[in-house]
Amino acid sequence: MIRAAITGIGAYIPEDVLTNAEMATIVDTTDEWIMSRVGIKERHVLKGENKGTSTMGAEAVKMVLKKTNTKPEEVEVIIFATTTPDYIFPSTAAMTAEACGIKNALGFDIQAACSGFIYALEIGSNFIKSGKYKKVIIVAGDKMTSITNYKDRTTCPLFGDAAGAVLLEPTTEEVGVMDSILHIDGVGIPHLHMHGGGSVHPASHETVDKGMHYVYQEGQVVFKHAVSKMADVSVEIMERNHLTKDTVNWLVPHQANIRIIEAVGNRMGLPAEKVMINIQKYGNTSAGTIPVCLYEWESKLKKGDNLILTAFGGGFTWGALYLKWAY
Ligand code: UT7
Repeated sequence: MIRAAITGIGAYIPEDVLTNAEMATIVDTTDEWIMSRVGIKERHVLKGENKGTSTMGAEAVKMVLKKTNTKPEEVEVIIFATTTPDYIFPSTAAMTAEACGIKNALGFDIQAACSGFIYALEIGSNFIKSGKYKKVIIVAGDKMTSITNYKDRTTCPLFGDAAGAVLLEPTTEEVGVMDSILHIDGVGIPHLHMHGGGSVHPASHETVDKGMHYVYQEGQVVFKHAVSKMADVSVEIMERNHLTKDTVNWLVPHQANIRIIEAVGNRMGLPAEKVMINIQKYGNTSAGTIPVCLYEWESKLKKGDNLILTAFGGGFTWGALYLKWAY
């Protein structure tokens, strides 16, 4: 049986840092509130003219190509998961392919909000399983600061910018993408969205005046759904793969709120040492959070480790993916 294994990982985190102390000069907030309610100390911001999500994605892809000794022309598929594309079109995948010299691939963007990386991993894994494709790049990331309203204290401390990329290759060993459970439910539409700039409300003076090009989030409603859905689906994927708290090596959760992450880890019965947490440094980078975690923990991961990746985001979209680390 052919499975898709992650054979390398790269990431890009922009240099500029926005601390809670600086945030408190922009809106009426405090380091104490942000740390105790969300767990974020600082976030990184992509600055500079003409820089977008693909700027970060391309750096992450170049890193993974270099680390795996892969030539850009060998890449057959490039899938970019993002909610903050460079443009409506062409795709961020096209922008990234151009920046990396990827000339022989098919490519496209997918939009599953904060669940983008696990959605794209499932899609890429099936390209590999088909037997037709042998080198698939998954890139995921967001320039969340481009859609953040720095006059809204309920959302602006939450978000930052980052991207990560992995190479998927076929394997016949018992490693790679083992299972996934993914969901979408439009019940989330009123609670988490950005309504400006699409085909219903194209950009106009009115959409700008009404702040429709920013993330709108009803935090408490999203929080409740995130905790229950991520925990349910993570426990479900453990049970159906006969995994226990002892045989799961790592939980790799989307980083939106430290309290959500802890609640999910507790429901799975996992000790804190098995849970990847870096929200304090980067905040919520949407599709970027999970690949950036994998990148930062890469040196600690061992071949055969059982990882549960789980995310929740706008739509609502959510899910869990069982990955056996391949190197
Ligand atoms: O990644 C995609 C999915 N997104 C998520 O998973 C996010 C889920 N939601 C959350 O993480 C949390 O709901 C937030 C972090 C967004 C908010 O935390 P909360 O504990 O739910 O706060 P709240 O909205 O219930 O607000 C509590 C209080 C309110 O004041 P009152 O009404 O109690 O007087 C807010 O006005 O905190 C106030 N508040 C703030 N105070 C200081 C809200 N934002 C701030 C702030 N600084 N930045």
